[in-house]
Amino acid sequence: MEHWSNHPRMAKIHLFIPLFALVHAAILYPTVAARVVPVPANDNQEQTLSSIFDISKYGTLQINNGLAQTPQMGWNSWNFFACDINETVIKETADALISTGLAEMGYIYVNIDDCWSTLRRDSKVSLDSVTFNLVLFFSDVHLGQLVPDPETFPSGIRALADYVHGKGLKLGIYSDAGDFTCQVRPGSLFHENDDAEIFASWEVDYLKFDNCFNLGIDPKKRYPPMREALNATGRTIFYSLCEWGVDDPALWAGKVGNSWRTTDDINDTWASMTTVADLNNKWAAYAGPGGWNDPDMLEVGNGGMTYPEYRAHFSIWALMKAPLLIGCDVRNMTAETYNILTNEEIIAVNQDKLGVQGRKVQVAGDGCSEVWAGPLSGNRLTVALWNRCSKAKTIKAVWDALGLESSTSVSVRDLWKHQDVLQDVVASFSAQVDAHGCEMYILTPQNVSRSDI
Ligand SMILES: *[C@@H]1O[C@H](CO)[C@@H](O)[C@H](O)[C@H]1NC(C)=O
Ligand SMILES: *[C@@H]1O[C@H](CO)[C@@H](O)[C@H](O)[C@H]1NC(C)=O
Ligand SMILES: *[C@@H]1O[C@H](CO)[C@@H](O)[C@H](O)[C@H]1NC(C)=O
Ligand SMILES: *[C@@H]1O[C@H](CO)[C@@H](O)[C@H](O)[C@H]1NC(C)=O
Ligand SMILES: *[C@@H]1O[C@H](CO)[C@@H](O)[C@H](O)[C@H]1NC(C)=O
Repeated sequence: MEHWSNHPRMAKIHLFIPLFALVHAAILYPTVAARVVPVPANDNQEQTLSSIFDISKYGTLQINNGLAQTPQMGWNSWNFFACDINETVIKETADALISTGLAEMGYIYVNIDDCWSTLRRDSKVSLDSVTFNLVLFFSDVHLGQLVPDPETFPSGIRALADYVHGKGLKLGIYSDAGDFTCQVRPGSLFHENDDAEIFASWEVDYLKFDNCFNLGIDPKKRYPPMREALNATGRTIFYSLCEWGVDDPALWAGKVGNSWRTTDDINDTWASMTTVADLNNKWAAYAGPGGWNDPDMLEVGNGGMTYPEYRAHFSIWALMKAPLLIGCDVRNMTAETYNILTNEEIIAVNQDKLGVQGRKVQVAGDGCSEVWAGPLSGNRLTVALWNRCSKAKTIKAVWDALGLESSTSVSVRDLWKHQDVLQDVVASFSAQVDAHGCEMYILTPQNVSRSDI
């Protein structure tokens, strides 16, 4: 969505949005910084699991459409293909998800991003009278229904849905809570009912709803109408909000959608991935079954990061209960990419039924050595040792930072080595971590009963 057109009208709106967002944020949320739980300091005060892994908002915001009991898994076309999509590549991707075994591991959504539709709606007018005049006011591209591009999707979306469903997979589509999509296709603002109906008639299972050309209207006003419209179709459709975190969606979007982007778009660099991870971490207390924080889709396999960096990306996304939406060309993965995306022990952390977002719990004074952790079902914890610097480091996880009593005896399983590496360890454990690398573990306390989470 960074690919802004040089159409004069778009340039104008583009400038307007950030200004609006800033002013709005300043008025409505003056105390966001105060609500964000900081990384606990090492101040000798005893920490408990419930103080570290605050879940006070967990389950209180619920769209209640029965979906997203665990974070969504699948694939999306944008990060690799951008606008260069067609029905052939979508079908071949569905085939590849099956033949590689990725589908069997849970990657079931095949999500088409921007550029599937024609530049204009057709002439079939079926707008309700309340929005009709408003819509005419904006422009004639608003008349009629969305139409799949006849050049790139000649068989239509319904045929594609049938194909994808025939393989036991689900089909996702894309639109925008604005006048246009980011690639300047017709948006769904003021067309929520028509568009939801057509998506349902095509048997679509998932909608990603972007934020371009939003006319400066409050996201809290623009996103709920599509929830209502999807619900009214009677078809269960996953609703993925993509408002880029501009209006702190964690605070309100759980009642609206099944996941909400917390940040700007990711890109295939270490700088972007780490920035996005840290931003998403702030909202951990708000995620839970039914609605998840979304730090954007995976870049694993796209070539801009090293193998250790991609392992870190996948480990931290899984630990943060982020959607695992593959963003590479699954028809042509390297062995390393395949090895990362098919780590079933790490996928199991992401899909754990407890559904508590893990978070950053310890940062060493060197600014390099980070410990991220989260509770899992069965009284277990997942722990990631993440080296944010460009020299190998020994990183130590201290029980106190994990909310365990230091006398608790723990067994440690390494999720990248697929081995039990330590037994009966107390107080802390440490490991050597490569530059920009991340080691990931499950800790099983041998003699503690946890009833507080
Ligand atoms: C479909 O898209 C893929 C990926 O961009 C491209 O390689 C292929 O040539 C396209 N096929 C057609 C028929 O346009
Ligand atoms: C519509 O919303 C109601 C109330 O939240 C919910 O019970 C129902 O399952 C929803 N239906 C669909 C199709 O999402
Ligand atoms: C990628 O993201 C980083 C960090 O957010 C940003 O500084 C950079 O400009 C982005 N690069 C591109 C090509 O968008
Ligand atoms: C497969 O990916 C490699 C890079 O990993 C690339 O060089 C090659 O062109 C790709 N092949 C196809 C058919 O896309
Ligand atoms: C756990 O077991 C160890 C010995 O294995 C013991 O020293 C410690 O006191 C026990 N801790 C708790 C919390 O029961």
